Amino acid sequence: MSQLDWKENLTPINRQFDDIYYADEDGLAEARYVYLLNNSLPEKWKPKSDYAIAELGFGTGLNFFAVLDLWFRNKMEDSKLRYSSCEKFPLTGDDITKALSRWPELQPQLKNFLTVYDPQRPGFQKIKLSTNVELDLFIGDVSEFLSQLQSPIDTWFLDGFAPRKNPEMWSDEVFDRVLKLSSPSASFATFAAAGFIRRGMLDRGFQVSKVAGFGRKREMLRGHLA
Ligand SMILES: C[S@@+](CC[C@H](N)C(=O)[O-])C[C@H]1O[C@@H](n2cnc3c(N)ncnc32)[C@H](O)[C@@H]1O
Repeated sequence: MSQLDWKENLTPINRQFDDIYYADEDGLAEARYVYLLNNSLPEKWKPKSDYAIAELGFGTGLNFFAVLDLWFRNKMEDSKLRYSSCEKFPLTGDDITKALSRWPELQPQLKNFLTVYDPQRPGFQKIKLSTNVELDLFIGDVSEFLSQLQSPIDTWFLDGFAPRKNPEMWSDEVFDRVLKLSSPSASFATFAAAGFIRRGMLDRGFQVSKVAGFGRKREMLRGHLA
């Protein structure tokens, strides 16, 4: 389980990695900018079709709940969303509740999620939050998650802690698996801007752009397969 400290505005800090889970200015605005806007969501969601998002690093679930909020606001009733994510150091339900308490619009889905979330159970847990949305949450290491993840993935959220603090989430093996599991038009986004990530994704055939980051972060990366 994760050991947390808290900023005054209830942004969690992971003690082991000495890193924050999201921007303390406004994590939800960051999730919407970095992961939704820069993956062209909701434009890529089409009526009557299936869509798969995979995230590396579930943390508080903020990115997931930001996606759900967008999905329901866009009334995607006749399409299906599969959101897969992994977490090696899960937060307790109480810590997730505390972290996300800042955002009233996320509360109804969070409440449903907490009735079934079990951070102590390793492996995949399938959490159905509506008839057309499924969360496949893997409690365990990213490499095991990627070796069991069902392809194709349309959109990637690469959201490990800062690469120098959390290299396992940004390894060549991870980049290889991301490519292997991607749909032909897959995209990715990440708050990180490190040169080795840019080159790693370029080497695997992604067209990569460095764009303005959120808040105090100068740059971030996004990309898509040609
Ligand atoms: C920046 S945080 C993710 C924030 C998250 N997306 C959110 O919305 O709150 C990075 C996450 O990656 C997890 N993590 C770090 N190393 C991991 C590993 N080897 N396998 C799986 N998860 C890992 C951390 O525990 C942490 O929750």
